Amino acid sequence: MLSEKMTSTLNKQINMELYSSYIYMAMSEYFQANNLKGFANWMNVQAGEELSHANKIRHYLNEQGARVVLSEVGAPPKEWDSPLAAFEAALGHEKKVTASIKELVTLAKEEKDYATEIMLGWFVSEQVEEESSADEIVQKLRMIKDSAHGLFMMDSFLGQRK
Ligand code: FEO
Repeated sequence: MLSEKMTSTLNKQINMELYSSYIYMAMSEYFQANNLKGFANWMNVQAGEELSHANKIRHYLNEQGARVVLSEVGAPPKEWDSPLAAFEAALGHEKKVTASIKELVTLAKEEKDYATEIMLGWFVSEQVEEESSADEIVQKLRMIKDSAHGLFMMDSFLGQRK
């Protein structure tokens, strides 16, 4: 059985994952509007992954007989100054998610809630991957700078993500 504090903190994490999905959807639409369909595809796949993260926590709460309470998801921004600015924002966002997961792990440890700690292990590993893939794209976009050719190559590369 989960504590009330753990239940509400996990519900907050669901909201954060849903907001993550929402912001990547907004980034996908920003790229669509700028004719960068490969970038849009990458963000769209990411939005889907974030939804699956929210569902993973919902499923866990359900299994534990705890109540899932959905709360309002804030509106994401609509525009970014450049593809690089969008990916820098994505990386910054992932760092916030990582910090939030770490706080959850700390709480699970404090409460000796081993089941939740084990469940969160998946998210700890996932965050390493999420930060690393966003960072890799940020680094590449910094190399490309204003090269239209580089951007075209990146667009077709990011279009391959499934
Ligand atoms: Fe589910 Fe990208 O954090």
